[in-house]
This record gives sequence, structure tokens and C-alpha cells, in this order.
Amino acid sequence: MIGPKVRNTLLGLLSVACLALTGAVAYTLVFSPKSVEAPIIGHFDLTDPAGTRVTEATYEGKYLLIYFGYTYCPDVCPTELAKLAAALDRLTETEPDKAGKVVPIFISVDPERDTPEVLREYGPLFHPRLVTLSGSADQLKEAASSYRVFYAKVIPEGGSVTPDDYLMDHSSQIYLMGTDARYLTHFPSGTSPEIIAKTLSERVS
Ligand code: NI
Repeated sequence: MIGPKVRNTLLGLLSVACLALTGAVAYTLVFSPKSVEAPIIGHFDLTDPAGTRVTEATYEGKYLLIYFGYTYCPDVCPTELAKLAAALDRLTETEPDKAGKVVPIFISVDPERDTPEVLREYGPLFHPRLVTLSGSADQLKEAASSYRVFYAKVIPEGGSVTPDDYLMDHSSQIYLMGTDARYLTHFPSGTSPEIIAKTLSERVS
């Protein structure tokens, strides 16, 4: 038989152990390197609207602000690109040298509709320096998987009325990549331009 005192002590120890375990699991889920600071090497082999092949090596020595999306996106993409542009403008005002080292890039995961003509007009709507890229289905799959970006075509319920009638589901985060194309950090949807500009100021050197 275990006396009540011993039992209470055991229960107490057990709950401390449980708390520690819960804490450890929570820490692993929220802060583990796998979920947050994943050592992504940002590889892409795509084409700009002029037909020029562009890879991460094209921008060696530069910092890349990269966002994956599509021009027909009704709200999320325009919102995120406007923030990205606002952050870059902010940095340009305060630290033009640093801003000059940052290349903003929009990668379209909707090559069917986002033709070079469409992308050529889309970029300047947000920022004069915004580079717009796309590629073949295979090239986009490769780029997205390298950045751990998810995207998928979504046909409306009941089917498409026209072949153009679909949405693209996609991850929405702005990546900041270092001069060696390695992941530095990312900005989830909802991050303010102020925070993005401040982070750029800290991380770009
Ligand atoms: Ni979007």
C-alpha cells in the first residue's frame, strides 16, 4: 500500500513531469528549427516576362523578398504584394543602400493564365522594381517545393463555366532570403509593412 502522503508526492511529481512534457512538446511544435528556421535553400529556375531565364544565382549578393501567388488572386496576393512594396519603400526612404540590395520577386504559380504579357503589367502595379517570374508546371513545382510552398488549383463547386474559371489555393508568406540564397526569415500573412521594413533593416547588411 502507498500512504496518502507518498501518493500525493507521486501525483505531484507526475503532474510536474506532465507539465514539463507538455511544455517540451509545445516548444517543439512552436519553436523547433524544423517548423520555423528551416534551412531552406531557395532554388528556382524560371523565366521573366522578357523571356530571360532567371535563377537564384542571377541575384547572387542580393537579398530576395519572395512571394508565391497568382495575379487573378482576389485579395490575399494583392494585399501581401502591397505590403511588400510599402516595406521596400519605407526602407528606401530611410536606408536606400540597404533597399538597393533587396530584390522583390513575385512567382506566379498559375502559368496558364499568368502569361508573360499579364505578368509584365502586373509587377509595376505594385512596385517598379518587382520582378515577376513564372515557368513550366515542372519548374514551378520544383521552386515551390524548394521553398516549401503549397499550391493547388481549385475548381468551383459544380465545375468550371469556362477553362479560366478557377482559383489557386496557395501558401501566403513572404520569404527573406540571404545573399547566398539561404533562408533568413519569413513574414506570415498579416505582418505589417513596418515590421517587414524593420526586419529588413536589421538583416540586410
Ligand atoms: Ni493569392
